[in-house]
Amino acid sequence: MDSTILHQSIKQPKWWQTAVIYQIYPRSFADGDGDGIGDLRGVESRLESLQALGIDAVWFSPFFKSPQKDAGYDVSDYRSIDPLFGTNEDFDKLLAKAKSLGIRIIVDLVPNHSSDQHELFQKALKAAPGSPERDMYMFRDGKGENGELPPNNWESVFGGQAWSRITEADGSLGQWYLHIFDSSQPDFNWENPKVHDFFAGVLRFWLDKGVDGFRIDVAHGLVKAPGLPDITAAQSQTLEHDPNNPHPFWGQEGVHDIIRSWRKILDEYDDRAMCAEAWVLPLSRMAKWVRPDEYHQTFNFGYLETPWAKEPLVKVISDSLEAFGSVGAPSTWVLSNHDVIRHVSRFGVETPPPQGSGIGPGMEQPDEELGQRRGRAATAFMLGIPGGAYLYQGEELGLPEHTTLEGKYRQDPTFSRTKGERVGRDGCRVPLPWEADGGVSFGFNSTGESWLPAPVTYKKYARNVQEGVAGSTLELYKKLIAERKKLALGSGEFRWAPEYSSANSLAYVNNGVLVLSNFGPESITAPTGEIIVSTQSSLNAGGQLEANQSAWIKL
Ligand code: GLC
Ligand code: MG
Repeated sequence: MDSTILHQSIKQPKWWQTAVIYQIYPRSFADGDGDGIGDLRGVESRLESLQALGIDAVWFSPFFKSPQKDAGYDVSDYRSIDPLFGTNEDFDKLLAKAKSLGIRIIVDLVPNHSSDQHELFQKALKAAPGSPERDMYMFRDGKGENGELPPNNWESVFGGQAWSRITEADGSLGQWYLHIFDSSQPDFNWENPKVHDFFAGVLRFWLDKGVDGFRIDVAHGLVKAPGLPDITAAQSQTLEHDPNNPHPFWGQEGVHDIIRSWRKILDEYDDRAMCAEAWVLPLSRMAKWVRPDEYHQTFNFGYLETPWAKEPLVKVISDSLEAFGSVGAPSTWVLSNHDVIRHVSRFGVETPPPQGSGIGPGMEQPDEELGQRRGRAATAFMLGIPGGAYLYQGEELGLPEHTTLEGKYRQDPTFSRTKGERVGRDGCRVPLPWEADGGVSFGFNSTGESWLPAPVTYKKYARNVQEGVAGSTLELYKKLIAERKKLALGSGEFRWAPEYSSANSLAYVNNGVLVLSNFGPESITAPTGEIIVSTQSSLNAGGQLEANQSAWIKL
């Protein structure tokens, strides 16, 4: 680690280069009609609290028409809001209100697959093998004497095989279709220009409505290797790209043509942006996705998966700034989302389970106190780094994962498809606590209904008991976001500060602000200088910064 400048300050940054983007998981944010599932009216009624938090934009996980087999990531109509969440008019109203509060709106585009209830898939089922209707999806004949075996050995991300066999119109057992996720989520055939046209239309529909951009779901999965070859054990065990042995469906080269065609569409509009959900490594490869005519941003999952420890953080941040910088794109930073264990809980266990697996009763339970400290320190560390930052609803409350949710409540298909072996992602999707005395759902609604029950421990994390309380996680987030903006850290000049780092602490300087984190176990002496914000309320200039605390200090 040396003190070379790794990020030059940007003169007039575009909004997305520095934005703090807050992810709303619509079914769990706020429930306006009391049916136990969050909705757009609920969001609208709570928008002021997001303005107070200081975020620049909201990314909505899918709220489109859907049978909800994968919580809305199974879309049956890309242009309509699901009645569960409201109407298209509700969305228009929400968009207008958000704009008036200075909050941009990003919607989730799910182009890898649709719901099996989508009209295109229903038509494909009714049509004959080899027909243009079938060609919208990935239908293949099975192997074996009577086609009784799946076309290859690919496995679903949610467990089990990635192929399901259909019954043809005449009642006979027929072809198989590919679903990298649940059997209710058939993969589109991106070799077919009609699929391109279909999604171009969807993009324009939402752009014309005035949304500020898209988060692109499973952006790394759209293109499959020609001939759909079997996957090898080595390929299935890593996200790390091996040029001599590329994965048959993650991160195929063909994705770039698709990205470029979308970028052209976005560029016809003012100031819109796309962020890719692309689980590809190494970072140097991911950076290719954000070349000037491709995505604006991509989630930095390498960062998300980095433990709270000095050396790995130095490496991933240096590598990110270098890799993304080399193509002129901002890096992004993210610690939590609706697919991973909330970071305050992840940092509270010895060995975090693999992504998508979750924590259930009977497994190692997080050390709550330790997780809170590390989680807050990690956020304070992250929000000082230049680039875009993504927050997941509830993390501003320090909300932990629900790690004791019983199997009978679990709805993630991962749970059922693996027969409970992987408990899945419901633990990070529990509705938010708004008011400590707001009944069993803590003010998520007024009826107490809740699609996933909140644990009693959520009471102490409720927003109303943190609002205006010095030292609360909510006030910490507000302060961090406000100062980040004031000091232009999102577009600032970044370098490591070895002169302020020790064996167990790490420091960097961004626009003259020193960000210092202590990984412990010993306390360290903070440099003198005005303390702008600290996770440790008791810290004075030149005082002792305890283990698992971070501070921003004006040099
Ligand atoms: C993405 C989403 C995840 C969903 C999957 C299938 O990874 O983030 O929630 O289950 O895609 O659409
Ligand atoms: Mg509702």
